[in-house]
Amino acid sequence: VPAVRPLIAGNWKMNGLGESIAELDAMLDGAAQVSPGIDLLVCPPATLVASFAARVVDKAAGKTLPFAIGGQDCHANASGAHTGDIAAEMLADAGAAAIIVGHSERRADHAETDAIVRAKAQAVWRAGLVAIVCVGETQGERDAGHTLDVVAGMLAGSLPDGATAANLVVAYEPVWAIGTGRTPTTADVEEVHGFIRNTLSDRFGTAGETMRILYGGSVKPSNARELLAVPHVNGALIGGASLKASDFLAIAAGC
Ligand code: G3P
Repeated sequence: VPAVRPLIAGNWKMNGLGESIAELDAMLDGAAQVSPGIDLLVCPPATLVASFAARVVDKAAGKTLPFAIGGQDCHANASGAHTGDIAAEMLADAGAAAIIVGHSERRADHAETDAIVRAKAQAVWRAGLVAIVCVGETQGERDAGHTLDVVAGMLAGSLPDGATAANLVVAYEPVWAIGTGRTPTTADVEEVHGFIRNTLSDRFGTAGETMRILYGGSVKPSNARELLAVPHVNGALIGGASLKASDFLAIAAGC
């Protein structure tokens, strides 16, 4: 199995105000203690991307901190009459290095289809950033034994051609595990991640062997080490536990 550099990513969702920069500061202070072989990413709400990215630049001056700021969503277009939307180019301009697309909350709350997610991933690349594409089954789909079919369909529909290990990260987030405190067994995680790895290798060749596949859904300090040790789990996408620097850093320490 080729070595893959892990990524520990935080998705703050619709949480965070200007004062939350104190939490970012605590993360940046602690990041120096995290292994330099791990990439850290925090995706705050769009209102905070510019100030957070500027803070990372300030704090990282003179050090090489593998710490970046990302967005949580973008529009597929670069500009235009789309009130309230944000283009990938705007997030890039604000200092983002990556953008999450296709999170299950976007798919559910905004009726985002695989085709929309694919167009958004292409927009992320157009802006020169890394696309973190989320896939995952609902409880009903798992209960019906359709997990791998659902994930296969989402990968086929959501990932554009032209993915590389540098421009794409896939996040497996079982919908039923998000914010519930429930996680799949390590055997179930291994099955799905192995399946995603094979799918990526079949479609993208050798690039698919080293694309990062993150696990997301109720990751916390107490279960991170076990989940991160599963084959083909190359990091985590963390919601609730990424809001606190101490939890986020403890998860990274388990990597
Ligand atoms: O994108 C991360 C997320 O959906 C997982 O959320 O709160 O279960 O860690 P949480």
